[in-house]
Amino acid sequence: MREHWGSKLGFVMAAAGSAVGLGNIWKFPYLTGSKGGAAFVIIYLLAVIILGLPIMIAELVIGRHTERNPVGAFKSMVGGTPWVLVGYLGVISGFLILSFYSVVGGWTIGYIVKGLTGMLSNLNTPDVAAREFREFTANPLSSLIYHLLFMASCMYIVFGGVKGGIEKWNKVLMPLLFAILLVLIGRGFFSGGMEKGLSFYLTPDFSKITTDTIIAALGQAFFSLSLGMGAMITYGSYLSRSERILTAAFWIVFLDTAVALLAGFAVFPSVFAMELSPAEGPGLVFHVVPAVFARMPGGQFFAVLFFFLLFLAAVTSGVSLLEVVCAYFIDEKGWSRHRAVIIMGTIIALLGVPSALSFGCLSHVKMLGGTFFDFIDKLTSNYMLPLGGFFIAICLGWKYGLEKTIHELDPDTKILSIKELWAFIIKFISPFVLFVVFISLVWADLVAFVQRLFA
Ligand code: TRP
Repeated sequence: MREHWGSKLGFVMAAAGSAVGLGNIWKFPYLTGSKGGAAFVIIYLLAVIILGLPIMIAELVIGRHTERNPVGAFKSMVGGTPWVLVGYLGVISGFLILSFYSVVGGWTIGYIVKGLTGMLSNLNTPDVAAREFREFTANPLSSLIYHLLFMASCMYIVFGGVKGGIEKWNKVLMPLLFAILLVLIGRGFFSGGMEKGLSFYLTPDFSKITTDTIIAALGQAFFSLSLGMGAMITYGSYLSRSERILTAAFWIVFLDTAVALLAGFAVFPSVFAMELSPAEGPGLVFHVVPAVFARMPGGQFFAVLFFFLLFLAAVTSGVSLLEVVCAYFIDEKGWSRHRAVIIMGTIIALLGVPSALSFGCLSHVKMLGGTFFDFIDKLTSNYMLPLGGFFIAICLGWKYGLEKTIHELDPDTKILSIKELWAFIIKFISPFVLFVVFISLVWADLVAFVQRLFA
């Protein structure tokens, strides 16, 4: 019999642990900062509600229906057809995402170490903090070591299996994460930048919306919710029949979105208090947070706490990425869990090496206008995940048939219309919206590519 989650709370915590990660606390603030502030936030929220929630439900439905990893799930639903490639696309996405995710996860370990050795207390202006971040990420040796340490942490947890490893850790770590975040917001509100920060964050300027904003917001919605590659198919496959998918999906989406929005509240007041540009890019939280805390009594403690929080969030997400890849080899290839974790963990770690060096010795190597790290990030978030979500919706809605799976949604639900609404969205709305956005993305990137060719 397939291993199941120990409890309903355990499942929601583990799935929320997958969703809540660097995407919420590191990526969401810097994308919001560089892609249009409140206008970006609104499009992101729309994407979460119109596309994220229905596809979250769809992935959980597929997972519990088939009780398989993404490849196995498509094999059991539409085996022998090219649709199985959607499952492989998911496993490959997991591979690629974890390879660069682990580099940023490594940075959080580095900052915990810096905090514990008292080195963060010198970073009392954003300029100094930014220089420190640049030097830290450019150093090949420490980047690699911390990247490997992060991978090792994920491997250790996935080793323990579903109930003993993933669930046990998430149940403790998730509530702790919430608590620490609330403390941090409290500090940010007294930083003096509250008014400007909130106006940037909450008052939309719609003239800032471009194709780029829309694509980034859509990719971020998928990335943050762990959608489009079958992570939720895999987690749903361990879900027992007695649990309600709709309720679980609402909770996961709510918790993930809440943490992202809270992270914005924690970051933007301080950004404006220190007269920083919100468009600093991937270094944003690493510049702002140490500088805020260095000026505060007891700040060292809070700084370490913050990076510890970020590390926890990142590990529980990294674990879900690794679990997808391993579940494929365990289910489909008959590997033991230990073998899958060791071999795949090692290969992903190696694939992460060029990403880890992208801020130092490989920073001049450009692929499609960005570093190797940027390339993998963009390829997965903007292309592979929305494409995966598109195929998941089409396959479930048109190929396999919703009537075969709709019973997975709470059989005794009083509000029948929610079921029907979901079916309608998955069949007609999600694929259509994703198709339109995807075509404009391909077009925009193609134009940029041709322009570079002739520049
Ligand atoms: N959602 C995680 C975050 O926000 C990252 C992540 C974990 C992910 N599993 C995923 C992203 C699967 C896409 C697909 O940090």
